[in-house]
Amino acid sequence: MLEVDAVIRRRLASDVVLVNQIAEYIIGAGGKRIRPMLVLLFSNALGFKGPERFELAATVEFIHTATLLHDDVVDESALRRGRQTANALFGNAASVLVGDFVYSRAFQMMVSVDRMRVLEVLADATNVIAEGEVLQLMNMHDADITVPEYLRVIRFKTAKLFEASARLGAVLAEADKTVEEACAAYGRSLGTAFQLVDDLLDYEGTTAQLGKNVGDDLREGKPTLPLLLAMENGSTEERAIIRQAIEHGEVARLADIVEIVRRTGAISATRDAARLEADHAASQLSQLAPSDYREALLEFCVRSVDRSF
Ligand code: IPE
Ligand code: IPE
Ligand code: MG
Ligand code: MG
Repeated sequence: MLEVDAVIRRRLASDVVLVNQIAEYIIGAGGKRIRPMLVLLFSNALGFKGPERFELAATVEFIHTATLLHDDVVDESALRRGRQTANALFGNAASVLVGDFVYSRAFQMMVSVDRMRVLEVLADATNVIAEGEVLQLMNMHDADITVPEYLRVIRFKTAKLFEASARLGAVLAEADKTVEEACAAYGRSLGTAFQLVDDLLDYEGTTAQLGKNVGDDLREGKPTLPLLLAMENGSTEERAIIRQAIEHGEVARLADIVEIVRRTGAISATRDAARLEADHAASQLSQLAPSDYREALLEFCVRSVDRSF
């Protein structure tokens, strides 16, 4: 990961002052760096030790960072990684444009690896993430979204990049198709579990631990699984309160909503759904030979469900 950080630093550079300033601002805040870890763990688990793995690990982190710069504008979020968001500090225009810089830098990096399959995997992932964010925009303030519709959004906006990260390890290692698909399936399920937990932490987490403001999803009227399940299991009155909150983004009632979400068992049901996905991810690892890398990938499955940040 130190090597990855070195690539990130080197590749962030621009002669344009504001690009440097904003890119450094968001990257310098850190983040968990899960996606680059997946690239390294899968390539190592499959025996690929070339320097391309560092370049691609940094590439997926750049794609992730670009989506965050754009996402915080779209979501009107004010806090990210424990700091004011770039949009709050530098404005929406600068955030969108520097997001474009980071995206296109990621494309320069993936081209440098000189493998057509890598380009295919990352071009597809980037395109699907954009579709996911647009789908979610279309679902905003819609209390009649179904669970499958919600799952489609999170598979697109979040799981797809986890899937691509895992798959890249297999592509670098030139693993056979069955193994590559198992790696991809692991990433897809882990990413789904990860976003399910992200969505429950918006109700159950703390701003201090998350480094993001809790209640952001509610303020936006985002119909996430905790709300959908609370409506399914709640009384007529509770259902009406949640519907009203989704339709009007009533963050003033956050405390009431959290109470309903908890009482109806929607928080624990969301965590159970995440656990099922994580278990499915773990089951894919039987395609890998035993190693410390495989153990670490297994550990991810447990931690992604129990995490509080
Ligand atoms: C945040 O991702 C966006 C989601 C997909 C929930 P992370 O939780 O991986 O963000 P950082 O990189 O650690 O800040
Ligand atoms: C994260 O979506 C997914 C992408 C950035 C593509 P969210 O909007 O749910 O994530 P946070 O809560 O802002 O990190
Ligand atoms: Mg957001
Ligand atoms: Mg969002």
